[in-house]
Amino acid sequence: MSKYKILFQLTGSIACFKACALISRLVREGCEVKAACTPSALRFIGQSTLEGLTGRPLYCDMFEAKQSVEHIALSKWADLSIICPATANIMGKMASGIGDDCVSTLFLAHDFSKPCLVAPAMNRNMWKHPATRRSVELLEEYGVEVLPVAEGRQACGDEGEGRMLEPDDIYAYIMAALDGRA
Ligand SMILES: Cc1cc2nc3c(=O)[nH]c(=O)nc-3n(C[C@H](O)[C@H](O)[C@H](O)COP(=O)(O)O)c2cc1C
Repeated sequence: MSKYKILFQLTGSIACFKACALISRLVREGCEVKAACTPSALRFIGQSTLEGLTGRPLYCDMFEAKQSVEHIALSKWADLSIICPATANIMGKMASGIGDDCVSTLFLAHDFSKPCLVAPAMNRNMWKHPATRRSVELLEEYGVEVLPVAEGRQACGDEGEGRMLEPDDIYAYIMAALDGRA
C-alpha cells in the first residue's frame, strides 16, 4: 500500500529541476505522486519528465483533463498538496483567490483539513516585494505552510534571499506535515 498521496504542483521557475529530484525521492520512498503544473512550468521542465517520474498523466490544461472536474477530484484524492517551486505570481494569485490556471484553481478547491505547503523560489527583489510579503501573510492566514527560502547565489547572478530550499529539506517538511496529521 502506498505511504501517502501527494499532489505535487510546479510553477514557472528554474527551480523546477530541483523539484524533479524531490518527486523522485517521494516516489522512491513509496508515496503516490500526481503532478500538476502551470503552462509556464513546462517552459522549464518537460511533460515526459514529470509523467516518467510519477508514472501518471500530468495535469496542466484544465479543459483537456480526463475528468471534467479534475481539480476537485485531485484535491479530494491528495493527503497533502505542495506548490514547489512557487513563483511570486502563483502566490499572488493564490492569495487573491484567482483561479485562471490549474494550480490556482486547485488551490481554490483545497480542503484545509489537509496540509498545503508552498516552497517559494524567486529573485531576492521579488521575495522582498511588498506584494509578495502580503501574499505570504495572507497565505499563512488561510492556513498554508509557506516554507522558508534559502540565501545565496541566485540564477540571475544576484546574492540574497529567495532561493528554494534543497529537495531533502523540503522532503522533511512534507513528512513533518503528514506526521502532524496522523
Ligand atoms: C528564466 C526565467 C526564470 C524565472 N524564474 C522565476 C523564479 O524563480 N521565480 C519567480 O517567481 N518567477 C520566475 N520567473 C518568472 C515567471 O516564470 C513568470 O512570472 C511566469 O508568468 C510565472 O507563471 P506561473 O506562476 O503561472 O508559473 C522566471 C522567468 C524566466 C524567463
